[in-house]
Amino acid sequence: MNAKTNDLAALEADLSARIASASDEAALDAVRVDALGKQGAISALMKTLGAMSPDERQAMGPKLNGLKDRVGEAIVAKRAALAEAALEARLASEMVDVSLPARPVRVGAIHPVSQVQEELARIFGEMGFALEEGPDIETDFNNFTALNFPPKHPAREMHDTFFLKPDEKGERKVLRTHTSPVQVRTMLKQKPPIRMICMGRTYRKDSDATHTPMFHQIEGLVIDEKTTMADLKGTLMAFIKAYFEVDDVDVRFRPHHFPFTEPSAEMDVRCDRSGGQVRIGQGDDWLEILGCGMVHPNVLKNCGVDPEKYQGYAFGMGVDRLAILKYGMPDLRDFFGSDARWLKHYGFSPYLTAGLAGGIA
Ligand code: PHE
Repeated sequence: MNAKTNDLAALEADLSARIASASDEAALDAVRVDALGKQGAISALMKTLGAMSPDERQAMGPKLNGLKDRVGEAIVAKRAALAEAALEARLASEMVDVSLPARPVRVGAIHPVSQVQEELARIFGEMGFALEEGPDIETDFNNFTALNFPPKHPAREMHDTFFLKPDEKGERKVLRTHTSPVQVRTMLKQKPPIRMICMGRTYRKDSDATHTPMFHQIEGLVIDEKTTMADLKGTLMAFIKAYFEVDDVDVRFRPHHFPFTEPSAEMDVRCDRSGGQVRIGQGDDWLEILGCGMVHPNVLKNCGVDPEKYQGYAFGMGVDRLAILKYGMPDLRDFFGSDARWLKHYGFSPYLTAGLAGGIA
């Protein structure tokens, strides 16, 4: 009896030690099989109960059951501890330190045209101009007729127009040759006062270092009861200062002709070309930068605006050219060459917003 009790104590000590030292689920399961499996040591002892005398059984039964329960509980507890340790280890190995600085990856860049358009929208936006839009494929009426180009007038051809095939009704659409048709669209849908800009693609049959068949323009239109050339000049000077980030700028207006403005002018800004670089604002040279004028009364009439009551001014300029003057690309054709190296060099970080460092004077 004593011997048996000692055997049980030794067995329990041995099993406890093996449970404690089991380093993983498989080792622990091996102990469980050795102790409590069909052929296990405790199971074998339980089988001997049947052959015992009632007294012996009464004495041994509770001991064996106690042993079986304690070993079973120890295994369950150890299994839980192993699972928790495994989870801790996994959490530790998969931890991400979100406070570490990110590696700067620059996979793309903002195209200079997009960047400049953003700058223009901001500058004119601060001056109270609303942004309007129009389609690239325009009616002949919007692109020419409403803008006071007489029918069959050579000016239509002067624009090096891309004409589309006539539709069933014989109407011949065009790829818009300028953004001025958006003046027409805006006046037709909105009552004055009007103060809008429009930016977008324009098309002319032309290709050299300073011309591409597709290019970009920005258009401005102001219609009110009292608007003058002086307002036009003030607006454009404020724009030039803000865009080129210069404090002082000298401009001059040269008489010009556009069918849709009267009087019409081209505006030059003073610049300095010494040192192989164009510096805007001051200097001995002049740079032509845009076309402008007072909206022709015929255009107002064509767009349902009473020329006796309203007048206005308009201006238009090349966005790509503005980009070249500010950021110094040598050839306009590269803008649309889809060369990733060019874009990497002249493109802008998407993380930077269009700067207005100079502010609006
Ligand atoms: N649409 C003219 C052009 O493309 C520019 C312009 C716009 C001139 C508005 C005067 C007024 O050349």
